[in-house]
Amino acid sequence: MSETNTQVLLKQRPVGAVQERHFEVVHKPVPVTGPGQICVRNHYLSLDPYMRGRMSDAKSYAQPVAIGDVMVGGTVGEVVESRHPDFKAGDAVLGYFGWQLFGVSDGTGITKIEKGDLPLSAYLGVLGMPGVTAYIGLMDIGHPKAGETVVVSAASGAVGSVVGQIAKLQGCRAVGIAGGERKCRYVTEELGLDACVDYKAGSLSENLQKAIPDGVDVYFDNVGGPIFDAVLDRMNPFGRIPVCGMISQYNAVEPYAVKKMHNVLIQRLTIRGFIVSDHAARWVDALTDIENWLRQGRLKFRESITEGLENAPAAFIGLLSGKNFGKQLIKLI
Ligand SMILES: NC(=O)c1ccc[n+]([C@@H]2O[C@H](COP(=O)([O-])OP(=O)(O)OC[C@H]3O[C@@H](n4cnc5c(N)ncnc54)[C@H](OP(=O)(O)O)[C@@H]3O)[C@@H](O)[C@H]2O)c1
Repeated sequence: MSETNTQVLLKQRPVGAVQERHFEVVHKPVPVTGPGQICVRNHYLSLDPYMRGRMSDAKSYAQPVAIGDVMVGGTVGEVVESRHPDFKAGDAVLGYFGWQLFGVSDGTGITKIEKGDLPLSAYLGVLGMPGVTAYIGLMDIGHPKAGETVVVSAASGAVGSVVGQIAKLQGCRAVGIAGGERKCRYVTEELGLDACVDYKAGSLSENLQKAIPDGVDVYFDNVGGPIFDAVLDRMNPFGRIPVCGMISQYNAVEPYAVKKMHNVLIQRLTIRGFIVSDHAARWVDALTDIENWLRQGRLKFRESITEGLENAPAAFIGLLSGKNFGKQLIKLI
């Protein structure tokens, strides 16, 4: 193959904010497809907050990326060469090839995508890991009941936007928390949530009180930090808090210390962290429901697409500070 394989490697482990110097862009020959292997040309790379954790060697639920290795990440693309009986050139596939244009695989962990009316990129967002995260975290850990109030942070993002809409589909009152007027308007006007609190404007505590006069039954936490504390103060008795992510803390050198834990006792709350990959048995249910809702026009999604792999480090830095508006993707072709 005459093309070049561009890759983004982890060059240094960041302490504090991620910077472009922590990555290195390199150009290598396209890998050779061995017996029993496929070669895939990636079309989209997913950028996800968990990648910040993989850049660090602090204790976590997954191994870090080694210095000099290709950054990890989900991809969708097309098989360009196959020496594998189950795949043929032209097949669309979902894989985990990381921040690179081409990848070879023996097929392990590669899923064929039936090309249909939904865009390939959706399989990295609403129809992929973030959508499933929203579904499992809300349905299996939050256990929302019709008439209850569900609050979700990072409400315009890949996970949060799906959480808020599923909460509405369950007959709940759904309230988002997001950064900025534009994102909040999207959450209420496009996604159909009942209210959205802009955590960057005014007093968060007062604004939450206004938006949630009857308190919170389920808080789907994507951000941690001071927003977590502010919502803890608004929880109703026997409320549930699926802890999905803590993006406000991923770059922190001194993690935020939660101050409002007394609410856990006095309101008899259940707080449970979860990692979507631990819930493999529920993926098919989640994706079936999500696909049906999409086809029925009951679920909307939005993407933030950056062109070119060499722009992935800047886009990733932007994702960690809210510059994305919807699922952050890198278009590779
Ligand atoms: N547990 C799991 O298995 C699992 C799986 C997938 C994702 N997650 C977690 O889910 C969360 C959302 O991920 P995503 O992929 O859907 O990303 P996303 O919401 O599409 O993008 C991240 C958003 O986080 C918000 N944010 C950034 N810094 C913040 C801060 N200091 N305070 C408050 N909000 C901040 C920004 O929105 P605003 O502009 O609104 O601030 C930004 O757009 C992350 O914490 C991620 O780690 C967990």
